[in-house]
Amino acid sequence: MDEDKIDEIIGYHRTDKSKLITILQDVQAEYNWLPPDALKHIAKRLHVPLIDVFGIATFYKSFSLEPRGRHLVRVCLGTACHVRGGLRILETAKRILDIKAGETTADFGFTVESVNCLGCCALGPVMVVDDEYYGNLPPAKVERILRKYGHTSSNSSTSIKEKKT
Ligand code: FES
Repeated sequence: MDEDKIDEIIGYHRTDKSKLITILQDVQAEYNWLPPDALKHIAKRLHVPLIDVFGIATFYKSFSLEPRGRHLVRVCLGTACHVRGGLRILETAKRILDIKAGETTADFGFTVESVNCLGCCALGPVMVVDDEYYGNLPPAKVERILRKYGHTSSNSSTSIKEKKT
């Protein structure tokens, strides 16, 4: 963790403890996750109890306390997507990246997660890479999409972390 970078983010928000959530968002945007040392540093600099910082970091699902890949692949398994083949999309992404849901590729390129609903059920099945939505998605297109984000068959042969299925 680069303390200077964390200090830069805190300074940008004028060391304002009411901006804690925004600061955590910015730190996560920098590292793709919230390293424990970063949380300790933020708590110290903002004079906020560490337990409060961890409380916020664990409360919001968008924050990750585990290392994540540069690209977050979310596949919807909500009812509307499930009946339209969402599971096949997830299985295809897992096979191509050679990881399970909740895992990150060894090169930290990709993390795959399943989600319950992305709020665009009419587009199902839906996969989201970072903030880009791919709807009415046939499994055959998954690999082409992942290649767009830098996937090659050699860069994800081993997973590093299992978070959840
Ligand atoms: S069920 Fe997939 S977007 Fe709603």
